[in-house]
Order: sequence, then structure tokens, then C-alpha cells
Amino acid sequence: MNSILSYPNRGPYGDASYRGNCSGYIIRDILNYYRPTFFLECFAGSGSGYDVAKGLGYKNSIHLDLNERFGNFNLLTDQLPVGSDLVFSHPPYWNIVKYSGQNNVWGSEVHKGDLSHIENYSDFIERLDIINRKIYDSIIEGGDMQF
Ligand SMILES: C[S@@+](CC[C@H](N)C(=O)[O-])C[C@H]1O[C@@H](n2cnc3c(N)ncnc32)[C@H](O)[C@@H]1O
Repeated sequence: MNSILSYPNRGPYGDASYRGNCSGYIIRDILNYYRPTFFLECFAGSGSGYDVAKGLGYKNSIHLDLNERFGNFNLLTDQLPVGSDLVFSHPPYWNIVKYSGQNNVWGSEVHKGDLSHIENYSDFIERLDIINRKIYDSIIEGGDMQF
């Protein structure tokens, strides 16, 4: 497993027009390395991880996001499913891309739980810490968490 990755293209996963999306190849390589039995993806966005998991034949994977496609799931306030042995998490890059709201990535209004609209960096990190703690607590002993 390398810590610096470079792929010639982003691959056939997710939606390249969903701003801030990642290449599914990253998720594919992580899944092929860890081979989890219960995969949980937080901040599923355009579905890169969903497409990879389905393509690899995973039946037991859950993909969550505040957007409508992935259940309007608010990682700050909703209860995470417990028992996964691998979590991939790709939160917003603070204020670089705003997700909810008109002329942003999804929805017609700003969602009050959307981390990408938090103005203050310390507040952003504080909320992310809360979510990371929740993720950590949801994983089985010996499981892994990848960002
Ligand atoms: C960097 S994007 C994830 C992109 C994804 N990995 C992909 O390849 O398409 C970050 C995501 O965080 C979601 N988000 C922001 N605040 C959230 C919250 N409180 N709970 C769950 N998802 C949230 C946004 O809707 C957005 O889809």
C-alpha cells in the first residue's frame, strides 16, 4: 500500500461533474487491500465508492451522505450503523466546495448540517472531530478507517 497515489484517469466510478469527487480507483485499491466483510462509506457524494463496491460484488456495504441520493444522512446527528470493519471517509475540504444550496452541487437550499458551509475553520475541525469519533466508535475491534 502506497501513501502517494497517481492514476492516469479518474476511472468509470461516480460522477466527475460532482465537485470534489475522488477517483474510485483509490477506493477500489483500499477495498482490494483490506477486503472488508462490512464496508461503510461516509460522505458518499456522487457514488464513487458505491459504484466500486457494487462492481467488486460487495453485497454488504453502506454508503451515506447528506445528499438525497444517499439518504439525507447527517453524520453529525444521525446514528451510524455499527459493526463495519472498514470505513472510507471523504469529508468536504472545509470551504473550497460548497455542497448544498442553489448554484452549488445539490439542493435548492443550504442544509444546516452541511459541513461545507461552516465559515470558521476551528468550528469545522470541531464538527469533523465529532464525526471521526462516531466513525471510530462504530468500527469493530481490529477494523480500519481510511480518509
Ligand atoms: C468531498 S465530497 C465526497 C465525494 C465522494 N467521495 C465522491 O467521490 O463523489 C463531501 C460530501 O460531504 C457531504 N456532506 C457535507 N456535510 C455532511 C454531513 N453533515 N453529513 C453527511 N454528509 C455530508 C456532501 O454532501 C458531499 O457529498
